[in-house]
Amino acid sequence: MKISISVLCYETEIAKLPGDGIGPEVVAQAVKAVDAICERFAHEVSYTFAKVGACAIDEFGSAYPESTHKVCLESDAVLFGAVGDPRYDNDPTSKVRPEQGLLAMRKQLGLYANLRPVETFPSLLHKSPLRDAIVSGADLLCVRELTGGMYFGEKGRLDGGDTAYDTNIYHRYEVERILRLAFGYARKRRGHLTVVDKANVLESSRLWRQVAQEMAPQYPDVTTDYMFVDNAAMKLVTDPRFFDVLVTENTFGDILTDEASCITGSMGLLASASIGEHTGVFEPIHGSYPQAAGKNIANPLATILSAAMMLEYAFSLMEEGSLIRKAVAASLDAGVVTEDLAAGGKAYSTSEVGDWIAEWIKKN
Ligand code: IPM
Ligand code: MN
Repeated sequence: MKISISVLCYETEIAKLPGDGIGPEVVAQAVKAVDAICERFAHEVSYTFAKVGACAIDEFGSAYPESTHKVCLESDAVLFGAVGDPRYDNDPTSKVRPEQGLLAMRKQLGLYANLRPVETFPSLLHKSPLRDAIVSGADLLCVRELTGGMYFGEKGRLDGGDTAYDTNIYHRYEVERILRLAFGYARKRRGHLTVVDKANVLESSRLWRQVAQEMAPQYPDVTTDYMFVDNAAMKLVTDPRFFDVLVTENTFGDILTDEASCITGSMGLLASASIGEHTGVFEPIHGSYPQAAGKNIANPLATILSAAMMLEYAFSLMEEGSLIRKAVAASLDAGVVTEDLAAGGKAYSTSEVGDWIAEWIKKN
């Protein structure tokens, strides 16, 4: 594997995995933004395309084929779109599913941490289902454990299929490594970490809380608090500004991050980074939105913001990442937005938004 250093050089390889549905359209816009950054800052990158999800099942019979894994392992970062196809959604008996591609990629790349920042854009506050007074200024980072818990614990059927189980299992090392990251991010941000669990009921949560309490004294500059997940779900919508960094296990994190995503008013804006042992994956948190596929109407901003996270987290290119964020904010202020954000004004196409942002990056 090539070592990534803090400047992009001619050897930098990005694995491009657009996936299914709107994935290819939104990833194409993120590539325009990265290319504009490369032009501005004289960086060079090359892309290697690979298939994941339903399109990979169609061609290889597997949602995350070995050839795709090899491309990811040999790259410095993975830019990912979305997976999913309605052909599989209503068939619980289907043995292969596009989502398995995502889960296999996370597991095989050892991506144990999923970072989902939730920021509010002033020009979008009116889109939030919550009142401005509650949402304005909310800025939190959700750190979701991504390769453990019920998603990957032993699962199966008994009684000829009439009993089913999923095991929520966590080992100390899994808890420690994700908490270490979360404490670190809290330290770099506003110094506040909320550990979310269900320690009043679940043994695995009691391990999380025990390990967090053992580690907290090593971070005297971080205020650590503990919150039950049901309470956290309520707090996220009644007082989102309470949170700085929120860390939690896989399933709770899946649910809470969808909830947190609506605080901002648009899921079409939420980016994520999955990092861990091997190449990091950068992807929008929305799905494949099959109804919009091929129509050039999907909002590309979450994927463009994921590319910003890629520059920051995979390559430590903070100025470049920040320029992409500024370009996105500028497009919102200028009303150059797709139909989901247009609010009666002109709706631009996916590619027009991508072009506008790329041009803005080159000029500013
Ligand atoms: C997510 C998605 C995935 C998950 C699905 C598609 C497997 O909902 O990234 O949050 O549950 O982790
Ligand atoms: Mn989810």
